[in-house]
Amino acid sequence: PRLWLIVPAAGIGQRMQADHPKQYFRIDQRFILDITLSRLMDSAPFAGCMVPLHPADHWWPDTEASQDSRIQTCTGGSERACSVLSALHALAEQVRDDDWVLVHDAARPCIHTRDLANLIDRLYTHPVGGLLASPVADTLKKADQGELPEVSETVDRGSLWRALTPQMFRYRLLVESLESALEAGLPVTDESSAMEFSGNMPVLVEGRPDNIKITVPADLALAGFILSRF
Ligand code: CTP
Ligand code: MG
Repeated sequence: PRLWLIVPAAGIGQRMQADHPKQYFRIDQRFILDITLSRLMDSAPFAGCMVPLHPADHWWPDTEASQDSRIQTCTGGSERACSVLSALHALAEQVRDDDWVLVHDAARPCIHTRDLANLIDRLYTHPVGGLLASPVADTLKKADQGELPEVSETVDRGSLWRALTPQMFRYRLLVESLESALEAGLPVTDESSAMEFSGNMPVLVEGRPDNIKITVPADLALAGFILSRF
């Protein structure tokens, strides 16, 4: 099977509270989206890459990636899962059912090449696929809702993981799982949750905890620091 890459970049980065989406912030002069795309495209033999963009995006033509003939774009949707599904549909003519699709957030530029290679190696012969994940390090509390939430219990973190990306699944299984999960109105915050809903249980491959998603302004400096140490 061949490998395909989808990098959802159609979000507006509301939590960054800026006047432009976070994938178009710069670290060391380069767009975050360019850093993410080049790190991935240079590290694995992808047959192609699809990047869903916001319909009002006008930054893409200024990226390095827009000059790369292996990278195509399509129009994203209102939720991350809709953007990913639109990219999957856009790839339909070129892909075979059992080909692998890796989905990686544009906002995760700190993906380490060794984690990417490890994910592909571990899952390549698996029937479903899986994702990078990192064991939870903090002590976790369960609490009721409220202004001053009161702890009801400490959750055993022994079996808990943070879901990261890339998430890597067989093309046909992923399309069908996303379509049925969205139709059913289920909360689909990553590809893995759609697979879980359809009963195709993903495998976890341990990845570096510094594969952070840039979400709030402070994450920008942190990502710059992490990248400077690779
Ligand atoms: N994304 C997307 N389409 C959407 C929403 C998000 O392609 N409708 C992408 C984002 O561009 C990002 C990734 O999915 O690369 C992870 O989403 P998130 O971190 O939530 O980014 P935003 O939605 O842009 O940020 P926010 O939730 O703060 O608005
Ligand atoms: Mg979002």
